[in-house]
Amino acid sequence: MSFDKSYSQICGTVQEELEKLNAELEKSVCGDTPLHSAVRDFLLAPSKRIRPLVVFLYLKANKIEVSNAHIKLQTVTELIHNASLIHDDVIDNGKLRRSQKTLNSAFDNRLAVISGDYILSVTLRKLAEFNSPELIKIYSSVIEKMCTGEIEQNFLRYKITDIAKYIEKSYKKTGALFESALKASIFLEGLPLENAEFAKLFGIAFQIRDDLLNITGQDNTKVSADIQDGIYNAPVIFSGSADNPSAGIEKTKSLLSNYIERAKQKISNLENNRYKRAMTELLDILKNE
Ligand code: IPE
Ligand code: MG
Repeated sequence: MSFDKSYSQICGTVQEELEKLNAELEKSVCGDTPLHSAVRDFLLAPSKRIRPLVVFLYLKANKIEVSNAHIKLQTVTELIHNASLIHDDVIDNGKLRRSQKTLNSAFDNRLAVISGDYILSVTLRKLAEFNSPELIKIYSSVIEKMCTGEIEQNFLRYKITDIAKYIEKSYKKTGALFESALKASIFLEGLPLENAEFAKLFGIAFQIRDDLLNITGQDNTKVSADIQDGIYNAPVIFSGSADNPSAGIEKTKSLLSNYIERAKQKISNLENNRYKRAMTELLDILKNE
């Protein structure tokens, strides 16, 4: 089965929670300028909501009810993710995102930058409602990691690094937000924070998949852009040459499988239920196009 088809079935297991999350996101943007509506449209444009999905599945697999507080926390996660996408599209001069014009192309870079900042201000307002220094620590440190990952990537342009550095970058840019999303929710439940390692491994696998799809997928326009910009990911690192990323595909697939298996290990001792099965399935379909 295709990734999209299996993915929407998996979403069906936490449909209600995902709908509540969308409603919360919609009401988080209050202004009435054309930019505010564009930001609202961007937030609600079809998206996978994969970070909240992983958290909701994990909570339910552990027989924890997804309360309104969890919905609010995962709204914070999704706001941070969306602000980062808007800024990323400015940095990469991206034209399309979620099949729609990016804010930098619909407006301009100035307005796209302020849109991302605006979303981060909403994030802080929502986070403040929890009155929790621990949650502020979790989310502020992830924003710092994400920015550092982007900055380091810039200073490593046109350099073929090594897989350890690539994994570190993938962790900072992507894995860290999956990890913090789960950390925040399990902190709320008083569970051991190390359990968030599952989401960290998941997030790294998700980034490896994205970099692989940029070479093998139908929409591989971004790969040439990335490679032209000197951003060399696993396929280039394994192949040893920016001219021939395809030579690194097989090894990148093995790296992906390795992270998928390690993530599965982290949930192996959970009792078998439909949410655990959905998480396992979600990990498995990361190998599909
Ligand atoms: C895109 O994230 C950037 C990566 C980390 C690969 P998503 O693939 O989660 O984007 P949306 O939210 O579904 O559009
Ligand atoms: Mg980028």
